[in-house]
Amino acid sequence: MRYHIAVIPGDGIGPEVIDETIKVLTRISEKFSREFIFSKVSAGGAAIDKYGDPLPKGTLDACKASEAVLLGAVGGWKWDSLPGDKRPERALLGLRSGLELFCNLRPAKLYEALKDACPLRSEAADAGMDIMVVRELTGGMYFGDRGRKQTEMGEAAWDTEMYSYEEVRRIAVRAFDIAKTRQKRLVNVDKANVLESSRLWRAVVLDVAKSYPDIELSHMYVDNAAMQLIRDPKQFDVLLTTNMFGDILSDEASQITGSIGMLPSASLGKDGLGMYEPIHGSAPDIAGKDIANPIATILSAAMMLEYSFGLKEEAKAVEDAVIKALNDGYRTGDIYSDGMKKVGTREMGRIITENI
Ligand code: IPM
Ligand code: MG
Repeated sequence: MRYHIAVIPGDGIGPEVIDETIKVLTRISEKFSREFIFSKVSAGGAAIDKYGDPLPKGTLDACKASEAVLLGAVGGWKWDSLPGDKRPERALLGLRSGLELFCNLRPAKLYEALKDACPLRSEAADAGMDIMVVRELTGGMYFGDRGRKQTEMGEAAWDTEMYSYEEVRRIAVRAFDIAKTRQKRLVNVDKANVLESSRLWRAVVLDVAKSYPDIELSHMYVDNAAMQLIRDPKQFDVLLTTNMFGDILSDEASQITGSIGMLPSASLGKDGLGMYEPIHGSAPDIAGKDIANPIATILSAAMMLEYSFGLKEEAKAVEDAVIKALNDGYRTGDIYSDGMKKVGTREMGRIITENI
């Protein structure tokens, strides 16, 4: 079996963490006799510098022609003063909408070996945490009507939160399906006490729930969910929410694990096509120093093996290799604590590769 992977190294630490991930995937291909064909393409700041466009058409076309997209990170100070539609972040939004990646999965897992990194009090940390945030990714305020106008109160600006029945239905179905493979508990997060879009959202989730009688569904307003995540993260299994709320809650959930350098993500579309990227940014301040943590990108590749290629055993081999490296005491600077063995980006990549 051959798998075509479009690789976008991007900016900052992106190229370094991608290099290590490709080594891991190459090891998987040897061990399990799979053929991965990598095509490197540019997006983000790198593409602005080269082509004057954060998402050149050739990049989007190459991604569409692949089975999966693996992305490092985009952005950096260098491009910070560019207008909104020319910034590196446009590449991400353009890839999400251009590839119709409406389902964003952001697992936030507290690994036993890294329990001490959790900023919560020890009872909450000891209980463990394994949450899957399912965030809608191509609708809502991010893509709704927006504009500016003059008013009596001075210049005004607006962004519109709008969701259609079908947009909510398809993401809800994904969330219920994922809950089925986990602890079968789904919390829907909205703001139905105030927002009309949330009231429709909730009604659709309730409709979809009729086909999943074995899933325990509950609803939470987003402000309460933000609080509950800090109070008792263990209560959550799968959390379903909108693009805007998911942006905020997934950052909160990731910080609770104490190691943002560890967390992967998947953005999925209609058929198997998906884009996989670490949830951390491009960290230009540490780029090129061989100190970035490659684990989030390596775990993103594991999600790619599972969700786009259906290679569960291979995905597990990658995750097990990461866990073994942690249990053996290897740590990059961001997750280092006393008594552990500090390693750089390349060394961490080498150790994980050898563990496979
Ligand atoms: C994320 C990021 C993006 C978002 C930005 C960079 C456009 O914060 O992936 O969560 O807001 O979706
Ligand atoms: Mg975000």
